Amino acid sequence: MQAEIVVLPGDGIGPEVTAAALSVLKTVARRYGHQFTFSEHDIGGIAIDKHGDPLPASTLAACKSADAVLLGAVGGPKWSDPNSKVRPEQGLLALRKGMGLYANLRPVRPHPAALNASPIKPHLLTGVDIMVVRELTGGIYFGEKTRTADSASDLCTYSTAEIERVVRSAFKLARQRRSYVVSVDKANVLETSRLWRDVTARIGRDEFPDVKLEHVLVDAMAMHLLAHPREYDVIVTENMFGDILTDEASMLAGSLGLLPSASLGDGKAGVYEPIHGSAPDIAGKGIANPYATILSAAMLLRHSLGLFDEADCIERSVDGALNSHAFTADLANNGRSISTAAAAQAVIEQMQANCYVAELRD
Ligand code: IPM
Ligand code: MN
Repeated sequence: MQAEIVVLPGDGIGPEVTAAALSVLKTVARRYGHQFTFSEHDIGGIAIDKHGDPLPASTLAACKSADAVLLGAVGGPKWSDPNSKVRPEQGLLALRKGMGLYANLRPVRPHPAALNASPIKPHLLTGVDIMVVRELTGGIYFGEKTRTADSASDLCTYSTAEIERVVRSAFKLARQRRSYVVSVDKANVLETSRLWRDVTARIGRDEFPDVKLEHVLVDAMAMHLLAHPREYDVIVTENMFGDILTDEASMLAGSLGLLPSASLGDGKAGVYEPIHGSAPDIAGKGIANPYATILSAAMLLRHSLGLFDEADCIERSVDGALNSHAFTADLANNGRSISTAAAAQAVIEQMQANCYVAELRD
């Protein structure tokens, strides 16, 4: 197949991890006979430096006309002055909003070989397989903000329609899994959460009676996620709760560097990015963990291009690389660690050994 993929390396370790994922996508193209064209555009801090805008119109236009977007990370100390008018993060938020990507899928599946990297006891982690569905274009991230000398506010709003569409995505995903949804909110305090709970309960009752639904308060969920993570299947929640819970959930997988994500809207196009940030402290050293971005590329193949075998192939190959202890520093527990490029190479070698192709092209 032919596909146009926009690559947004961004800041910090973004260029290093996207380069690693690109080498994996190019291997997929060669081995399965696909034609992927890649075009790079600026987003985040580098776009502020070059164009004075964290999301230049040309970048958004390219993303909108592409089949899929692969993104690294945005942000860094250079652009973190609290008084500055534009921030790199605004570019990412504007991209999500501009493309209408309201459902952010963040799978959490601890790999057996990485269990030692997790601060959680290994017996709690085996068999954990969670899909967090984070609402991505509403809530407190996008409400009106005010600031005076001695006060500030961030408005949190949700409409029924915004809740319905993301909750439907979560229920549909649950039907392909263990048919169990936990909706996370703060309905004992927040009005938006009470609306969230009402709408979710109605959608569950009217449209997905076959899926088990539970409502859990976010503070309790923060605890349950570490105490008995194996119980959970699909977790659906609003924008900021999802942001926080998935950083927490990444510790189940052993490293923030292992969690991919897919941001989807109504169409097939999507933005695929690791859930981690730009990690300025290790940027440019060639030691960042590329697996989250490589796994995001697998999600890209599955959700935007419908290339299921190819996506499975990448995921199995990352498993294989981890089994062979191809660990970057974050996973190595002070033991032997390998570079970003070597980790990508380990995945590519697994692909060459294990991914069946009828007609090999390389
Ligand atoms: C994420 C990031 C972003 C977010 C930041 C960089 C704006 O933390 O994708 O989780 O908060 O959504
Ligand atoms: Mn985050």
